[in-house]
Amino acid sequence: MPASQLILALETSCDETAAAVVELREGRMLVRSETVITQDAVHAEFGGVVPELASRAHLEKLTPAIRAALQQAGVAPSDLAAVAAGHRPGLIGSLLVGTSAAKAFAWTIGKPFLGVDHVQAHLAACHLNDSPPAYPAIGLVASGGHTHILSMPDALHATVIARTRDDAAGEAFDKAASILGLGWPGGPMIERAAVTGNAQAFPFEGGRFAGSADFSFSGLKTAVLYAVRGVPSAPNRPPRPPPPPLDAQRVADLAASFQRAVVRALETGLRRAFETNPSASLIAGGGVVRNQAVRAMLAKVASDHGASLHLAQAQHCTDNAAMIGALAALRLAAGEHDALSLSAEPFSLLSRA
Ligand code: KG4
Ligand code: ZN
Repeated sequence: MPASQLILALETSCDETAAAVVELREGRMLVRSETVITQDAVHAEFGGVVPELASRAHLEKLTPAIRAALQQAGVAPSDLAAVAAGHRPGLIGSLLVGTSAAKAFAWTIGKPFLGVDHVQAHLAACHLNDSPPAYPAIGLVASGGHTHILSMPDALHATVIARTRDDAAGEAFDKAASILGLGWPGGPMIERAAVTGNAQAFPFEGGRFAGSADFSFSGLKTAVLYAVRGVPSAPNRPPRPPPPPLDAQRVADLAASFQRAVVRALETGLRRAFETNPSASLIAGGGVVRNQAVRAMLAKVASDHGASLHLAQAQHCTDNAAMIGALAALRLAAGEHDALSLSAEPFSLLSRA
């Protein structure tokens, strides 16, 4: 293997158009450049991502994003060792834009193409930190589309220990924020509102399943809805008293209580995972891992279980292309790449496991 390999990585699975150049040099990974063009403004008025608008925005923004990433890295196409894209899971139209572009680019320069799994890439993001994780590891991916606890014997393999049966943790943040009138994306809004709230004010809890470590967040979202709009009364029963008005303090208390419930659900799942899968490291990524209460909980769980903690840096928690480059670099170093016939897929193998 050459001393240095440069990978152009693309990410277009949902509503961020991202490109990065990641360098693998003597076993270390360096982010040479990264650009993320967010579509928040395109989707904000709809309160969620509109798939067709997302694909069209990727088509417009991907070429400028690639150009910027190569320029900032000072890299010519002929310097690249490979081109990678997140090819699953995600919105199929959006995935097709990045996957097709990466394949075309790789073919044009005569270099290998790698299609990588976006969920796994959220954890590969931890390899972009100064000290890479030791394995076996327990991995937490908590994002807008996924909530998984994984057992990882090494950086490239994972089995699912627990996952959400309904809403992802980030999706629950987004919906709770929308119910509270806080705007979108909801995670950062809830975190901000929670600062002045009392996390004990509402006895919210994440759902649990007998004999299973799986999560459920949809009931929690309904609990927030009822606290705001009132609990519907049973048929032929007198109406229940309306809830108190939703003033700033009540919003803060609801946000804090909701956030605490999500953190506790993730914590319970992780503690159970460590009991059955003793591991050297705890690694975590995905948008929800930007949350300071989540990060503090992860630090405590790792220290209680004598595991080293490896959290993706904030800019590598939400969707980005550097994490795609990180997973591609790990695979390339293991001698792997993919055929140009590899297509975009809406599901992760991990989601089906
Ligand atoms: O990883 P990501 O960018 O996209 C997916 O792969 O889904 O995650 C986006 C999710 C959104 O649901 C967003 O509300 C949530 O991550 N998020 C947060 C925070 N920042 C982003 N959730 C809680 N606290 C935050 N600070
Ligand atoms: Zn993601």
